[in-house]
Amino acid sequence: MKILNELYAGKAKTVYETDDSERLVLRFRDDTSAFDGAKIEQLARKGMVNNRTNAFIMEKLEAAGIVTHFDRLLSANEAVVKRLDMIPIECVVRNISSGSICKRLGVEEGLTLLPPTFEFFLKDDARHDPMVNEFHIRSFGWASEDEVAAMKTQTFAVNDCLKALFAEAGLLLVDYKLEFGRYQGDVVLGDEFTADGCRLWDAKTREKLDKDRFRQGLGGVVEAYEEVAHRLGVDLD
Ligand code: CDP
Repeated sequence: MKILNELYAGKAKTVYETDDSERLVLRFRDDTSAFDGAKIEQLARKGMVNNRTNAFIMEKLEAAGIVTHFDRLLSANEAVVKRLDMIPIECVVRNISSGSICKRLGVEEGLTLLPPTFEFFLKDDARHDPMVNEFHIRSFGWASEDEVAAMKTQTFAVNDCLKALFAEAGLLLVDYKLEFGRYQGDVVLGDEFTADGCRLWDAKTREKLDKDRFRQGLGGVVEAYEEVAHRLGVDLD
């Protein structure tokens, strides 16, 4: 496979076109960003750890019947994915309160949410990813009613699969963000699933092992991501 021109550079990944019009290459960089790009640092090894962790999780999701864009690993920090027409919406499920919901609703961190709660956000850094509802998504034409339903169903299916997977590794899946796109008429899971886009706490101590270590300046960010990978059984060598 030949990598051609750069299509898009995000905050932590760069996307390349390839000689296959149906496939893109994702390069996971060491850049780590928070607060809509206001805080950015390079963290050695993070690109590799996230690329391999993402591949491991996407394969688990595929095995559970969730269709994803993941095709295969290409190198330590690159993966081949299906080329999707991305929907500009972030889908968030929360099993435990943390982050923006605590500020928005004035609730304390660490509450178990039963049922798990669900939110949509518009992908728009300049406006700090505002929360939107299903009507906004349909009325402004970001996605159809069927696509909204598919995103919701698949986001909850991911919760069933990954809550169990992380529990076996002694981790609590606190919350996570997913993005979807269209591929040959279907809604398919895109983007990534890594500790950059979810919250993971040690099940016993509730120690944070995700990007909150970076956001909150706790240190040991990549070490925490590696700990998650080791507990899951991801091959990092
Ligand atoms: O992360 P923050 O407190 O700003 O927002 P949140 O709404 O509490 O985030 C919920 C989950 O989605 C967390 O696991 C975030 O890491 C993730 N998220 C993300 O990956 N990208 C965003 N633009 C917003 C949230």
